Amino acid sequence: MHSFHYHQGNLLCEDVSLQALAKEHGTPLYVYSKATLVDHFTRLDQALAPLDHLICYAVKANSNLAVLGTLAKLGSGFDIVSAGELFRVIRAGGDPGRCTFAGVGKTAAEIRYALEQGIYCINAESAAELERINEVAGSLGLRAPVAVRVNPNVDAKTHAKITTGKSENKFGVDFEQIEALYAHIATLPNLRIRGVQMHIGSQLTSVEPFVEAVRKVAPLVAALHARHQLEFFSIGGGVGINYRQCLDSADAAWWEANAAAQHPLTLQAYADAVVPLLKPLGLRILCEPGRFMVGNAGALITEVLYEKSGKAKTFCIVDAGMNDLIRPTLYEGWHQIVPLAQSHEATRPCDVVGPICETGDYLAQDRALPPVKAGDFLAVLSAGAYGFSMASNYNTRPLPAEVLVDGNKASVVRQRQSLEDVLRGESLA
Ligand code: LLP
Repeated sequence: MHSFHYHQGNLLCEDVSLQALAKEHGTPLYVYSKATLVDHFTRLDQALAPLDHLICYAVKANSNLAVLGTLAKLGSGFDIVSAGELFRVIRAGGDPGRCTFAGVGKTAAEIRYALEQGIYCINAESAAELERINEVAGSLGLRAPVAVRVNPNVDAKTHAKITTGKSENKFGVDFEQIEALYAHIATLPNLRIRGVQMHIGSQLTSVEPFVEAVRKVAPLVAALHARHQLEFFSIGGGVGINYRQCLDSADAAWWEANAAAQHPLTLQAYADAVVPLLKPLGLRILCEPGRFMVGNAGALITEVLYEKSGKAKTFCIVDAGMNDLIRPTLYEGWHQIVPLAQSHEATRPCDVVGPICETGDYLAQDRALPPVKAGDFLAVLSAGAYGFSMASNYNTRPLPAEVLVDGNKASVVRQRQSLEDVLRGESLA
């Protein structure tokens, strides 16, 4: 479900006019739809209903407290990658006992904090990390619940920077080393084996790599379960989203035929493929969606500042830059960009660029856009995942505000940074 749509020529998020939000709160502005979050959580929960399962939302995709709080109320668990993310989850009312801790470089302090908070499981990525967890747990006088991330050497067929399940990637432990490593864990006094984890990559647009990975790893999980009494198997996240949204019922037929066809991975196809492979394990299945949950729940609203046409190109210069949304330049990410005031004028190609002093600072290149003028607003869609959470203060630009829409209500869930906020903590030598 996507809650961004035109109504009488104006783009709304649920029942709220984005133009009104832009005018009230300024731009760049991130806007999220609560209904979409709830819908995505509920649909995934239903799709996994045949399994004993726990959804551990990948906090890194969007860590705003209001987003976490919404999911916590629905009963979501969380996949965290730092002490900071766990701190946020707890602040938002989430339960550490439903959290997993991922990442190749956890510090002793982070491990200690997670154990003190009663984390459900630490997903370790190396033998050396397991030794460290064993030490920290010993110093706390407890047994740390652990799983190991398996690297199945399966190609997720996604962008190189977000492929994680190949042997040459830094993630996890090679499939062939896993059984010996579990045997070793069983000899470490302060560890308790709880499960097995894998995650092969992000923004997967077909079901085959998931199937290949589950088919390869499930027999290993069954063998480990027989020896070590596992509780869970986590299949990670990675379900891709369609970055092209249908905003107007008039486009629905075109959309069905074209956009949807380019992205065949639906939630149903995913569940239909993996559930039957997982069910016979008789284990609790964890799933760690990030982008699926929040990607299409958010948009970045930006104002057009200037337009200029040179010999080679037309540039639409807007007030959001790569510091606000880095996906286009970092991953060649394609985000749909539409004017808040619906236009039926003929389009022309232009580059939508930000104010940052880098050639890589663009939101779109050679994009067909209707003519826009200074003061018009644009929505950069599908920006709910890895948008704000990857934003920075580069060029000393304050972080944007974030708004959560619920029906006809809109709440500012993060204030825009002031320049004082940006400089806080700095001093002259
Ligand atoms: N689990 C683990 C262990 C992960 O590393 C990730 C994402 C997820 C779950 C969630 O994956 P998702 O369901 O969101 O695909 N910044 C990049 C994506 C980085 C993904 C990192 N790991 C982007 O904007 O495309």
